[in-house]
Amino acid sequence: MIRIVEVGPRDGLQNERADIPAPAKIAFVDALSRTGVAEIEVSAFVSAKMIPRLRDAATVFKGIRRKKDVIYSALVPNMKGLDQAVAAGADKISVFTAASETFNHKNINTGIEGSLTRFRPVVRQAIKLGLPVRGYVSTAFWCAYEGRISPGIVLDLSLKLLDMGMQEVSISDTIGKATPDEVAELLDCLLPKIPAAQLAVHFHDTYGQGIANVLKSVSCGIEVVDASAGGLGGCPFAPGATGNVATQAVVTALKDAGFPIDVDVKGLTDAGKVLSPYLTAAPPASPDLTSLACATCEFFDGRHCCGRQTRLS
Ligand code: HMG
Ligand code: MG
Repeated sequence: MIRIVEVGPRDGLQNERADIPAPAKIAFVDALSRTGVAEIEVSAFVSAKMIPRLRDAATVFKGIRRKKDVIYSALVPNMKGLDQAVAAGADKISVFTAASETFNHKNINTGIEGSLTRFRPVVRQAIKLGLPVRGYVSTAFWCAYEGRISPGIVLDLSLKLLDMGMQEVSISDTIGKATPDEVAELLDCLLPKIPAAQLAVHFHDTYGQGIANVLKSVSCGIEVVDASAGGLGGCPFAPGATGNVATQAVVTALKDAGFPIDVDVKGLTDAGKVLSPYLTAAPPASPDLTSLACATCEFFDGRHCCGRQTRLS
């Protein structure tokens, strides 16, 4: 069974222009909980100066109604973030670094080695508390500042994260520029050294390659896919990048390709509608195939389409 990690409440909302009230975020998470996704990244305990949109992380965690078969995780950059995530009752934490020194400096104010030094006590403490830890490797293919990233750097960094005791590494295309050939090249480099069970993929969809990249990844053996309901998302420190690949599109494409997956596509779209009064663009379109807005990604909402547009209705 392919597991979906729904990152909409965190990645999807961290870069929104609108300040979405906590009750709407809570309703969004609660609606996502009913869709069959395995895990929901609820929010981030990071500097409010860097990411003001998620400064209500503790309130959101407090308000959600948890389902026992769903993992509710939080992004944390350091011990301060871990302490807050633990107090909020996160089931799992995610730390984040990048294969690009420049992106790391802009995003977390330290380089690759500095990030590893910061993570060690965080991971040690999390494991002591029984919390699983995910590590993100951002800019795993391309960096907005440094260009193409060598697979060897991603392998080396991923092994260091796993050596610390992390449960999984999410290989992230932060600026959404990877192609299926580049995905295959990187996975060919990673998979002989890292079991597929310890890898996830995280594609942004700037160039409309997200679904093709997901399909390539699962055909290579990857079983955990990050996505965001309605294709919301983006990192303020990755200029020009658009949202994550839409969860509805991922689930539909995987089902069509015959991969085992059990997530309610309409439920995902209904979850997205909870946010629609607050988003700066229209809500994600209906997944009903007769009313598709975009022939390619199906979820054109004026901003989060894959870019191949062709409005059908
Ligand atoms: P720093 O300035 O080096 O940290 O930032 P510091 O320890 O010197 O602290 C500076 C200030 O931040 C202090 O406040 C701290 O208290 C506060 P002040 O005294 O100035 O009032 N602070 C915190 N506040 C709340 N929670 C915390 C925390 N830590 C310090 N945990 C730091 C370093 C990492 C904290 C900062 O750079 C930061 O928060 N960065 C977060 C950036 C971020 O969240 N980016 C988006 C997520 S990553 C992403 O989207 C990529 C991903 O989706 C995968 C992909 O697509 O590639 C995951
Ligand atoms: Mg991301």
